[in-house]
Formats: sequence, C-alpha cells, structure tokens
Amino acid sequence: MPLKPLRKAVLPVAGLGTRFLPATKAMAKEMLPVVDKPLIQYAVEEARAAGIEQFCFITGRGKVALVEHFDIAFELERTLEARNKQAELALLKGTSVEPGSLVTVRQQVPLGLGHAIWCARSFVGDDPFAILLPDDLLLCERPCMAQLADAYRETGGNVVAIEEVPRERVNRYGVLDVAEDMGRLVSVKGLVEKPPIEAAPSNLTIIGRYVLMPEVMGHLSRLEKGAGGEIQLTDAMARLIGAQPFHGVRYEGRRFDCGDKAGWIEAQIAFALRRPDLAPAVRAFLPRYV
Ligand code: G1P
Repeated sequence: MPLKPLRKAVLPVAGLGTRFLPATKAMAKEMLPVVDKPLIQYAVEEARAAGIEQFCFITGRGKVALVEHFDIAFELERTLEARNKQAELALLKGTSVEPGSLVTVRQQVPLGLGHAIWCARSFVGDDPFAILLPDDLLLCERPCMAQLADAYRETGGNVVAIEEVPRERVNRYGVLDVAEDMGRLVSVKGLVEKPPIEAAPSNLTIIGRYVLMPEVMGHLSRLEKGAGGEIQLTDAMARLIGAQPFHGVRYEGRRFDCGDKAGWIEAQIAFALRRPDLAPAVRAFLPRYV
C-alpha cells in the first residue's frame, strides 16, 4: 500500500506556563515572542515547511489569543493598507491560514501530554500525523519537521527527533532504548519516560517533534498513568514498537528549550544574530554583558 502523505499536525498548547509567571498570568506561554514572532508561529511555519496543511491546537482556558493570532485582523490590515505599510502587511502573511485548516480541541483537564494528544483522536482519524511542542524551538537549515517527514517517507513508520544529552539530564526526557544505531537513523526497541539517571537505557532523548501513526491513539485510549502520575505519550509510543517501524532521527540543527527562562533568553540571542536588521546591534552590545 502506498504511504499516506503527512498533512496533519497536532500542537499541544494547553500548558499553564507556570515557569514564566507573572508574564503568563493572562497570556498564553506560546505567545511569548522570540525576537518578534511568537513561539506558536515558529511551530506552525515549521510544520507548513514540511507540507502540513491541517492543524489541531489542543488548548485550554485562557488560550484564545493563539487562535486569534492565525485569524485575519481586518481592521489592522485595512489600516496598514491605507497607510501603505507594505512591509508590516507582509509580516502578517505568516499568520494567516487557509479557512477551515485550523481547529481546536479543549483538553479540559491537565492529565499529561499523552492525554492532550488523545484529545485530537477525531482530528487524526486514520492518518499519520505530526506533533510539535512549541516550547522546543529549533534552529535548522532544513526545518526539523521536514527532516522528520523525510525520515517518515524513508522508513514508512513512526519517527521522533532525538538528541544526545549529558547523562545527568536524561531524567527530564523520553529516552531511547536503541536496537541499532545507524547514524542519522536509530532503530528503537524501547522508550522510557523520565527514567532515573542510573536506569536510563541511553542518553539519546526525544525532543518535541514526532511523526506518529494513528494506531498510537488506541494505546493512548487506555489512559494509563505513567511517570509523574501523568498519561504519557512515550508509554503509548513504546507499545507501537514491534508492530510498526519506530526510529529516532538525529536531526541537524539546534534546539532551544523555551519552556525554560535561560533557554528562552539564549534563543533570543541566537535568532537575533541571524537577522541582518538586528545582528550588528546585538553583536555590538553583547560584549558589555559577558
Ligand atoms: C515531553 C515528553 C518527553 C520529551 C520532551 C521534549 O516532556 O514527555 O518525552 O522528551 O517533552 O521536550 P515535558 O517537557 O513535557 O516534560
């Protein structure tokens, strides 16, 4: 059977963002900007660059701005047109989506990442789908999700983006038990969510980019609690192994953990230094602080 094309993405955005209080008291953490673009927009643009056409945001209370951000801002656009602000109008292009291509589902109760993804089961149906966690911001020549989509077409199954972390940090991530390390691709024989450091099967960890087969939803529907008492996506993915191909992909690029203050500040600098309009000013002032 020919491989189904990858057209759908699920973006879990229901988190409370407690690590960024008070900024996130009345604002969704995914609206935090890196330079001048909110995290959610980086994720949507990355997905689009991989051929994704349909989006499902898993939201919660206080997340309306995320949907507003991808709507047409009629008054704003009219005003910019009247003032002939072409550059500003062009900036809004990245925020418009095809009518009907963005849906939201409310998670209602914060039971874990696995539960958030399970909330998208009607949207996913029988299709392969991407997951992007907007807190993980990637700086890559070829967008990370496009690299994963390539790997999906190559392997015909589940793929997750991975990176090596120092041993003492493996307990913060989903960790791979490696069957065969082929370099860029790693075939997987097991997955463990946030293992104790001494029990971790490797130091290859999952970052917030996945391409999964719809069968993962059947495993998620057991709603079994795992690490931290939460319903874990990693546990459901582990159950696919053996029944379907499952690979880690050492993506090319750099990840910034924007769910963490230091990671977010580093992202500001890294992304600003890539901008011709900002790089000279940033380069000039940075030495004053280090
Ligand atoms: C989630 C996943 C974990 C993954 C991580 C990547 O954890 O559960 O497997 O390694 O994202 O950022 P969280 O950061 O939500 O605790």
